[in-house]
Amino acid sequence: MSAVLNTFDAMKAFKTGAWTSTERARAYDASTNSKTDITSFLTDEYLGQLTRRIAPRSRVLDLGCGTGVLIKSLAALGFDAYGVDISQAMLDKIRPESEGDRITLQQGDVYALPFPDASFAGVTTRWVIPHFRDWPVIVKEAARVLQPGGTLVFDHTSRGNYELANRNGTLEHAKFGYDNRVRGGDKTMFYASASIDELQLAADSAGLDLVDVAPLGFFRQNAVIASVLGGDGFLAYKSTFDDFYRDPGARAFIQWFERNVAAAFPFEMTNGMAVVMQKHG
Ligand SMILES: C[S@@+](CC[C@H](N)C(=O)[O-])C[C@H]1O[C@@H](n2cnc3c(N)ncnc32)[C@H](O)[C@@H]1O
Repeated sequence: MSAVLNTFDAMKAFKTGAWTSTERARAYDASTNSKTDITSFLTDEYLGQLTRRIAPRSRVLDLGCGTGVLIKSLAALGFDAYGVDISQAMLDKIRPESEGDRITLQQGDVYALPFPDASFAGVTTRWVIPHFRDWPVIVKEAARVLQPGGTLVFDHTSRGNYELANRNGTLEHAKFGYDNRVRGGDKTMFYASASIDELQLAADSAGLDLVDVAPLGFFRQNAVIASVLGGDGFLAYKSTFDDFYRDPGARAFIQWFERNVAAAFPFEMTNGMAVVMQKHG
């Protein structure tokens, strides 16, 4: 048992420590600022899940805000945006987009947030929660700082998407880029997955209602597509997809499909999920 716990602690330390160098912060910042790839569209769709549920100009917190992609958008929309991150190097990259943007940054740990109970109308986080096998603990801590009736939006990946992929073939995790296996996988690529039941359990034990789970990002990162095409085929597909996305007509179709078709697919069809929870009033 203690060997299992040690592996768990080692992975957690690795996942938290991976972001602290200035060089990593510089490279991450450079790779996340594009406004023309599909990530930018998905970011807006994702943030919409939060912003349409909370009052204008209310106080919101981004957990593991990194170089500030989400908080800069939230501040530009008029929200009072707070960001917390373990890495000061990542926080140092954040510059408000305009003079009036209200942004407050604080170095801190998502497992022990440096804020009192019930401080925020909204809490969000992206690309952080699935790094950790004990992610429901972070959901509970996020719930603590939410006001009654407040909304939490976080990303996760669909366990069913991995299961469907492995039914059709064998997923090459190294080329897919993420490995959801809790044991036996590569810790540098670990990214948790969850079923709807597990999301429901996490919500219940944090005093939250599970309000919505929206499939997000059908085209770009989908284990079913990766298993059908094979590892190298999937890498080629991603680069072809990026070329298509540069074309305005193709881009409009892809965005329409993501919004109107993929969003209504069964959860197994898409890997990414935007999870919406609300604190009991
Ligand atoms: C993949 S980045 C995501 C950054 C940002 N949310 C975004 O959407 O671009 C993961 C971030 O989580 C932060 N992080 C990792 N472990 C953390 C912890 N225990 N507490 C707070 N932040 C953490 C890292 O420093 C890094 O900035």
